[in-house]
Amino acid sequence: MSKTVPVTLNVNGVEHHLDAEPRLLLVHALRDHLGLTGTHVGCDTSNCGACTIHMDGKSVKSCTVLAVQADGVALTTIEGMASENELHPLQEAFWNNHGLQC
Ligand code: FES
Repeated sequence: MSKTVPVTLNVNGVEHHLDAEPRLLLVHALRDHLGLTGTHVGCDTSNCGACTIHMDGKSVKSCTVLAVQADGVALTTIEGMASENELHPLQEAFWNNHGLQC
């Protein structure tokens, strides 16, 4: 059994507490532990950018960040970009392209 560490992820203004293996990638924490599947895994080379989120307002590829590195940091995913009942232009672009960009 692997050792886990407590991690607090502040995602879209909501705190989530989880016990994570130190090797857990942030993208997998978001998708598999928090159910935020708007952040995608599009490659295994850190080139595509499908996993991009904001960490303290700066864009990062969440497949290159460990969940433990995001402990206590303000994270924004695509789910957190909408205001009221309107889609953010980025969400609208994803919608228009079926979540894919050619
Ligand atoms: S999944 Fe492709 S850059 Fe992160």
